[in-house]
Amino acid sequence: MGNEHYFTNDPKSEFRPKTIRVELAGRPFQVQTAGGIFSPDHLDRGTEVLLNQVDAPPNAGVLLDLGCGWGAIALSLALQSPAAEVWAVDVNERALELTRQNAASLGLSNVQTATPEAVPDGLQLSEIWSNPPIRVGKAVLHEILSHWLPRLEPGGKAHLVVAKKLGADSLLTWINETLGRFGAAERTANDAGFRVLTFTRS
Ligand SMILES: C[S@@+](CC[C@H](N)C(=O)[O-])C[C@H]1O[C@@H](n2cnc3c(N)ncnc32)[C@H](O)[C@@H]1O
Repeated sequence: MGNEHYFTNDPKSEFRPKTIRVELAGRPFQVQTAGGIFSPDHLDRGTEVLLNQVDAPPNAGVLLDLGCGWGAIALSLALQSPAAEVWAVDVNERALELTRQNAASLGLSNVQTATPEAVPDGLQLSEIWSNPPIRVGKAVLHEILSHWLPRLEPGGKAHLVVAKKLGADSLLTWINETLGRFGAAERTANDAGFRVLTFTRS
């Protein structure tokens, strides 16, 4: 990927899709990935912690994978909750295209891909699952969370996996200090150097 960041909107590196084998929702699958997006060679360890440590998503409702990459989280949610509407959101067009292709090849018709701006304003979110883009910097990360966490329906939850060394604990403090009027966050899992932070909308 050279100097290119995985969170670029439109990766300039040549699009060379490749197939990797991954386990999602306890079953083996082949998915397409490519350079220019996050973790193209394997299921990211943090994502794996999130998917293993958090209780299964609700059967129905609207589930959002915030920063979907090639779709690991969105695909897992859609496999586990076929009656739910899963939104896979990213700023990286290549990531959205790969997620679209992967959903189609897994036969998942309940995954909708979109840029953040394309998600309808009135959409009430039951849950957000995310391995958020820490490397965009604190200011942008805070902006992203301030936009999405308040959009959860009352009682809705956001599950965020963050590496301890990348500031999981200070992010927890920030969420409670800044978004405390919308709900409360706590640490719900701690595994392999990663924390899962769960925010519950009041
Ligand atoms: C840490 S990666 C996680 C990717 C994928 N969910 C996974 O687990 O492999 C974070 C993702 O957030 C995306 N991203 C960056 N800025 C974003 C924004 N403002 N809104 C939504 N997604 C964003 C990046 O392009 C990247 O795909």
